Amino acid sequence: MVKPGLSILVCALIFLFNLTFGYGDVVEVPTLNVTQQDHLKLLSLGDVGINIPALYVFGDSFVDNGNNKAIWEMMIPSEEVIFRSELISMEKLQAVSPMEELQWISLGKHVINFFQQVDLFENSTMEALKGSFDSPESFADYLSKSLFYINVASNDLGITYEFEMHDKYSVDEYVKLLVQELSKQLKRLHTLGARKFLVNNVPPLGCQPFNINTRNNSGSCVEQMNELISVYNDLLPGLLTQLQSTLPGSKFVLRDVYKIFRDVIASPESYGFKDVNTSCCFDKNGKRFEVCAPNIAPCEDRKTRMFFDPFHPSEAMYFVLVRRFLKDSSVCSPINLIQLMQA
Ligand SMILES: *[C@@H]1O[C@H](CO)[C@@H](O)[C@H](O)[C@H]1NC(C)=O
Ligand SMILES: *[C@@H]1O[C@H](CO)[C@@H](O)[C@H](O)[C@H]1NC(C)=O
Ligand SMILES: *[C@@H]1O[C@H](CO)[C@@H](O)[C@H](O)[C@H]1NC(C)=O
Ligand SMILES: *[C@@H]1O[C@H](CO)[C@@H](O)[C@H](O)[C@H]1NC(C)=O
Repeated sequence: MVKPGLSILVCALIFLFNLTFGYGDVVEVPTLNVTQQDHLKLLSLGDVGINIPALYVFGDSFVDNGNNKAIWEMMIPSEEVIFRSELISMEKLQAVSPMEELQWISLGKHVINFFQQVDLFENSTMEALKGSFDSPESFADYLSKSLFYINVASNDLGITYEFEMHDKYSVDEYVKLLVQELSKQLKRLHTLGARKFLVNNVPPLGCQPFNINTRNNSGSCVEQMNELISVYNDLLPGLLTQLQSTLPGSKFVLRDVYKIFRDVIASPESYGFKDVNTSCCFDKNGKRFEVCAPNIAPCEDRKTRMFFDPFHPSEAMYFVLVRRFLKDSSVCSPINLIQLMQA
C-alpha cells in the first residue's frame, strides 16, 4: 500500500507522462530525474485538476507494492525470489475442493493474496489513517475520492491453473471461482469506503518471454495460454458493470491491459519497441530465460524492449500502458483514467 503523500506524486507523474505524446507514435520515456515542477511547466498543466487524495494498490508483481519482498527474503535465497500474489489463496482452493489431495508447489503459500491485502488495508492502513481525520465523515470522504487500483489473477491463471489446477478444475470452473473471489473482495472494499475502482484485466501471458521459451508454441506467442486468459478477461466487464449498478456511489473502470499488449506486439515499431519477446536482464546462467540474477548489469536498450525480465514489462511498456489508459476510453472503460480521477 502506498502512503498518501507518495500516492499523489505517483498519480501526478502517471498523469503528466501521458500528456507528452499521442497514441501509437514513437515513445521516448522521460528521464526520471525531471522534477514534477519541470513537468508541469513543460506541459502547461496548470488548468487540469485531479480530485484524488490517494492511490491504494492491491495485487501482484505487475504492480508490486513491496509486501511480498520481505516474506520472500526470509524464505529463500534472493536469486530465487519471484513475487507472487494470488486472487485465491492455495488454502482457499483446498477448502473448496476438500476431497482432493492437493499438491501445492511451495511458492504459493508464502504470498499475501488479495483477500489478505484487503485485511491489511482494513486492519492496518485504515486504523493508522483514521486518526488524521477530524470526523468519520471526513475520513469517509477521503476514501470515497481515493483510487483503488487492483491487478490480480495473472498468477492464478498463468501458474496455479497451468501447473497445478488444470487436472482438478475445468477452465470454466476455475475462472468462475476467480471471478467470485474478486467480486467478494471488491464488495468488501466498497463496504470499507472505497468508491473509485480501477481494475486491470490479465495480459497475454502466453507472450511472456518465459512462456515463449519454455512452452511449445507455433507462432510468436503461446496462444493456448492466451485463450485461457481470455476466458477470465471476457467475464470481467460484466462483473464490473454489475457491481457498479448494485454498489451505491461506486465507479468501476476496467483497463484492457490485454489489448494494449496485443496492439504493441502486432506493431512494435509504432510504439518505439524493437524487441517484444526477450528479457532485458540476464539469469544466473547468463541466459534470458529465468528470473534476473543479482549484480549483473541489465541490457542497455531497455527503452526499446517490452520486457524487463522474462515475466514483467519494462518501464517503457508501463509508460505505453499508462499513456493510453489516461485518455483512451476504448481500452479504459467506461471512462478513461483522467475522467475517473476527475469524477
Ligand atoms: C538527468 O538524466 C539525464 C540522462 O541520464 C542526464 O543527461 C541529465 O544531465 C540529468 N539531469 C540532471 C538535472 O541531473
Ligand atoms: C484482520 O481482522 C480480521 C477481523 O478482525 C481478522 O479475521 C484477520 O485475521 C485480520 N487480518 C490480518 C492480516 O491481521
Ligand atoms: C512439445 O512438443 C514436443 C514435440 O512435439 C513434445 O515432444 C513435447 O512433449 C512437448 N512439450 C510440452 C511441454 O508440451
Ligand atoms: C522474437 O521475435 C523475432 C522477430 O519477430 C524472431 O525472429 C525471434 O525468433 C523471436 N524470439 C523468440 C525467442 O521467440
